[in-house]
Amino acid sequence: MRLLVTGGAGFIGANFVQQTVLERSDVTVTVLDALTYAGNKASLDSVADRIDFVHGDIADLDLVDELVSGVDAVVHFAAESHNDNSLSEPWPFVQTNIVGTYSLLQAVRRHDVRYHHISTDEVYGDLDVDDPAFTEATPYNPSSPYSATKASSDLLVRAWTRSFGVRATLSNCSNNYGPYQHVEKFIPRQITNLIDGVRPRLYGAGHQIRDWIHVDDHNRAVWTILENGQIGRTYLIGADGELDNKSVVRMLLEAFGRDPDDFDHVTDRPGHDQRYAIDASLLRTELGWTPRYGDFRAGLDATIAWYRDNESWWRPDKAGTERAYAQAGERTLGTE
Ligand code: NAD
Ligand code: TYD
Repeated sequence: MRLLVTGGAGFIGANFVQQTVLERSDVTVTVLDALTYAGNKASLDSVADRIDFVHGDIADLDLVDELVSGVDAVVHFAAESHNDNSLSEPWPFVQTNIVGTYSLLQAVRRHDVRYHHISTDEVYGDLDVDDPAFTEATPYNPSSPYSATKASSDLLVRAWTRSFGVRATLSNCSNNYGPYQHVEKFIPRQITNLIDGVRPRLYGAGHQIRDWIHVDDHNRAVWTILENGQIGRTYLIGADGELDNKSVVRMLLEAFGRDPDDFDHVTDRPGHDQRYAIDASLLRTELGWTPRYGDFRAGLDATIAWYRDNESWWRPDKAGTERAYAQAGERTLGTE
């Protein structure tokens, strides 16, 4: 199979490309990535001589058409992916997440190429503590410019499938963790703060709940759907990993041998979603997928070890990321 992976220099995409090259010798991979602040070519160093890398924009219709014409399938990870950035500057989210997806859909339509669309559970909005988890039937109700543009892209995929017969599947996954995640995101930000001896930074009271899944489990699910999923269908991906943010920060502090209350409360995110939770029954029963990383604490320890061992990968982004948070108005509110 000849596969085009968009966003392959980003967090999930790079893990996907590495996993694919290591485990599937029958697949040839071309990565298309614009190398925005979130893309890092070094994330593909270990497989660089076994893939083709194209530096370009998914919204470039001619480039995308040419690349798509030469493959059997596209897995579309590329996106602007950080909620906080979407609140400061929404336009790149509209351009990449909506216009970029349109460009890919037109190309796969023209060349009749199989397409898998990577999306997020955030398209469903948020849940109260007692609500049942999201399912494939939950109505869309996005809260932020990030989730609204991801929801828009999902709707384009559904329309192109129905109206033009595009052979597409979609997956909406919960929060990922693991190696190669940008230091702007919650878990790597706190791990790298702790490596630097800086206190973790918890938005507001830290009662918001996220449903954590290891990135390798997400990517194995993507392969399962690509190979066996029903065309036109959406699959939710999650590993029953619900935890509130404060508990995650306390686990991280414990893993570093620090007092679990040694963190700062900082300015909360405007419109902060309360809870995400995934019911992945369809994926488990119809396609037989199960996660391999059952133990979040063990997965967290391995992730901490990766950031300790790979400081040269994240260090260049750390100071600028913290400066951007400060410039966006993040202030310390107090300690525990
Ligand atoms: P990321 O921000 O780490 O990586 C995004 C990648 O896309 C980067 O390499 C960037 O250079 C590239 N990119 C951005 N704009 C581009 C453009 N116009 N053209 C080509 N490349 C471009 O994101 P991630 O966390 O790896 O997320 C990947 C996908 O998974 C996204 O679609 C995201 O919505 C989805 N997702 C993420 C999570 C999560 O927890 N991170 C959870 C569910 C779904
Ligand atoms: P994030 O990694 O940005 O993912 P998402 O917004 O897609 O869920 O944030 C995860 C949670 O952690 C979210 O509830 C916001 C919170 N958070 C903090 O408490 N402190 C931080 O420094 C960051 C970046 C996020």
